[in-house]
Amino acid sequence: MSAGEQARATGSELVTRGLLAGYQQVVRPGLFRAHGGDAEAIHEDLIRALGVAGSVPVPVARLSASALGRRQGTTLAGIRFPGRVGVAAGLDKNGVAARAWAGLGFGFAELGTVTAQAQPGNPRPRLFRAKESGGIINRMGFNNEGAQTLADRLAGWGVERGNQALGIPVGISIGKTKVTPLDGAVEDYLTSLRLLADKADYLAINISSPNTPGLRSLQDGEALRELTRALVVEAAVLNPGNPVPIFVKVAPDLTWEALDEVLQTCEEAGISGLIATNTTLAREGLRGSDARLATEAGGLSGAPLTVRSREMVARIVQQSSLPVMGVGGIMTPADAQAMFDAGAQLVQVYTGFIYNGPALVRGINQLHR
Ligand SMILES: Cc1cc2nc3c(=O)[nH]c(=O)nc-3n(C[C@H](O)[C@H](O)[C@H](O)COP(=O)(O)O)c2cc1C
Repeated sequence: MSAGEQARATGSELVTRGLLAGYQQVVRPGLFRAHGGDAEAIHEDLIRALGVAGSVPVPVARLSASALGRRQGTTLAGIRFPGRVGVAAGLDKNGVAARAWAGLGFGFAELGTVTAQAQPGNPRPRLFRAKESGGIINRMGFNNEGAQTLADRLAGWGVERGNQALGIPVGISIGKTKVTPLDGAVEDYLTSLRLLADKADYLAINISSPNTPGLRSLQDGEALRELTRALVVEAAVLNPGNPVPIFVKVAPDLTWEALDEVLQTCEEAGISGLIATNTTLAREGLRGSDARLATEAGGLSGAPLTVRSREMVARIVQQSSLPVMGVGGIMTPADAQAMFDAGAQLVQVYTGFIYNGPALVRGINQLHR
C-alpha cells in the first residue's frame, strides 16, 4: 500500500469507528429504550422510518452508498452484486423499506419471508433481545402481508428481475403458510414462486425457520427432493432459458450427515446455492442475565451463532460445489472476513445490524479481498 493509500485507509477506518461509536452510544440507547423497550414495536418504527427515508431517488441512494464504502462486488448465479453484504431475511419481511437498503451501503437485500397467504404470526411478545450475549431470540412465525402484496409493492416501484430498480439485486424468501398442511407445502411454495418469480433476482426457500410447526422436516430426504425439484422445474417453465435462481436456506442445527444429504439433493435438483444459516434452537452462548431467556421458545441469532454458522459454511464448501451466502452472528467486519475465509461468496446480517448499525455494513464493505 502506498503512503497515500495508507492515509486514505486510516481515514476511512476512522469514519467507520466514528459511525460505530455514534450508533452504539447515541442512536442505539435511544432506540432500545423507546416503546418501553418493546423490541418489536421499535423494529416496526425503524422499518417504517426507513420506508420513508428510502423514498429518496435512487441516484441519491447511490451517492450515500458510495459514502458507505460499497466497492467490492461479485457475480453469483448470474446476478451482479455491487457489494458483498446483504440484508438477511426477516429484517424487511414485507419489503416496506426495500428502497432504503442500497443507501445504507448494502449490496443486496433478501426480503420476506413471505407466504402464499397473509398471516399474523405468533402472539406477542415474540421477539427478545439478549443484550449481554449480543443475541436475539425470536418466534415471529412468518408474520407477513403475503406474496401478492409484496409483488404489488415491488411492481409499484418498477422492480423487475434484473433491472436493479432499487440500485441492488433483490432476493425474496418464501415460506410455507402456517395453515397449509405439510402435504400441501409444495403447492403453497409454488404459489409464492409464481407471484414473485418476475420480481426477484433470486428466490430463497425457507425450510429452516424453527417457528412454523413441522417446517424443518422439509429439509429431510424425500420431502426436500420433491420441493426443490418442483420449484426448479416451475421456474424453468415460467422463464424458459432464464429461470430465476433458487437458493435453499438451512438450519444450523442439522447434523453433518443431514447437511450432506441436503447438499446432494440440492445439487441434483438444480438449486443455485445455499444460505447458511437460519437461527438456532441451541441456547449455548446466552451469557449472564440473558440465561433467563433460555426457556423462551424460538430461534437464537447473533453472537452465539457466529462459530456454528461459519462451520456450516465451511462444511458446505468442502462437500459441495454450490455457492454459499454466509449468515449468522456476523457482528463485526472481522466476523465477515472469517465467513469469507470459510468460503462464503456473500454475507448477510440481521442481528449485527441491529446492534451495530450502518458502521457494520461500511466496515464489511471496506474489507480487502
Ligand atoms: C427477528 C428475526 C426475524 C427473522 N425472520 C426471518 C425470516 O422471516 N426468514 C428467514 O429466512 N430468516 C429469518 N431470520 C433469520 C435471519 O435471516 C438470520 O438467518 C439469522 O438471524 C442469523 O443471522 P444474524 O445472526 O445476523 O441475525 C430472522 C431473524 C430474526 C432475529
